[in-house]
Amino acid sequence: MAKRKTKSPKVPASLPPVQQGLVSPRRNVPSSIARPPYALTGDPGPSVLSLVRTQDEIKSMRKAGSIAAEVLLYVGEQVTPGITTDKLDQIAHDEIIRLGAYPSPLNYRGFPKSVCTSVNEVVCHGIPDSRQLQDGDIVNIDVTVFYEGVHGDTSVTFLVGEVDQYSRRLVEVTRNALSRGMETVQNGSQVCDIGQAIEKFAHSNQLSVVREFIGHGVGPEFHSSLAIPHYYDRRATTELLTGMSFTIEPMLNLGGHILHMWDDTWTVVTTDGRRSAQFEHTLVVTEEGYEILTQTSSGTIPAEYFASQ
Ligand code: MF3
Ligand code: CO
Ligand code: CO
Repeated sequence: MAKRKTKSPKVPASLPPVQQGLVSPRRNVPSSIARPPYALTGDPGPSVLSLVRTQDEIKSMRKAGSIAAEVLLYVGEQVTPGITTDKLDQIAHDEIIRLGAYPSPLNYRGFPKSVCTSVNEVVCHGIPDSRQLQDGDIVNIDVTVFYEGVHGDTSVTFLVGEVDQYSRRLVEVTRNALSRGMETVQNGSQVCDIGQAIEKFAHSNQLSVVREFIGHGVGPEFHSSLAIPHYYDRRATTELLTGMSFTIEPMLNLGGHILHMWDDTWTVVTTDGRRSAQFEHTLVVTEEGYEILTQTSSGTIPAEYFASQ
């Protein structure tokens, strides 16, 4: 029989879907740590229109952001095949408390854990559980802390052991997509410039952009009503002004952008099972452009640190 030329596959063989594990009991926060208003009831109340931050608020957000970055560096070092996402939650929780902050996700709208851990086709809001990370996985760890009355919100997608080239590229392009979005930010730019830059870059790299989950105003509130889509939305004409603070947190997918949610009502996955990556920073608009608040006090940015490892 004649040898037929077979086209090499464009996508890696599909791996078994992420399995839900067991969620451990709720972790304790010492009473000496100041809590956000929703910590007791789970209800953050109505979100208010984003305001320009005061100098004092920005100072505190710099502290909250640097704690979040320190925690992400610390927990990121522990990402390795065999560790459970519950253990990563415990490591992050203990470090957040050691640094004097409250882990913002804990009981936010009833969320049961202190960080979100989103593996492979999980897009966002994965609940840490007893599943062990496997060689070849990718995992986003999303750390938000509450400190001096304000939140700092940041995430990185980590490679677990030896990761296939498609997933590595997905992670790298997503990290750079966040930078493309941030680079548009200045006093007088528009919210839609951010999504336009991210979407253009994602599509030029054959990746899709998640639409249902977007960046948000952040400060005294975890999520204020300022909405930052990661795709071009011509209605997003809000002008960015010096002192506004918000996140940019693009989620990019190897396959399509259609999502669904697990019956735990938190875990969001791609419907086609293809992988998704995310990176997130909290920013403030400055006279010169923008400042990344989620960096350590010595200027280390976790996403860059782990990219160069
Ligand atoms: N940190 C996430 C974000 O980037 C929000 C997590 S809310 C939680 O907005 F309840 F899932 F923790
Ligand atoms: Co966020
Ligand atoms: Co986040």
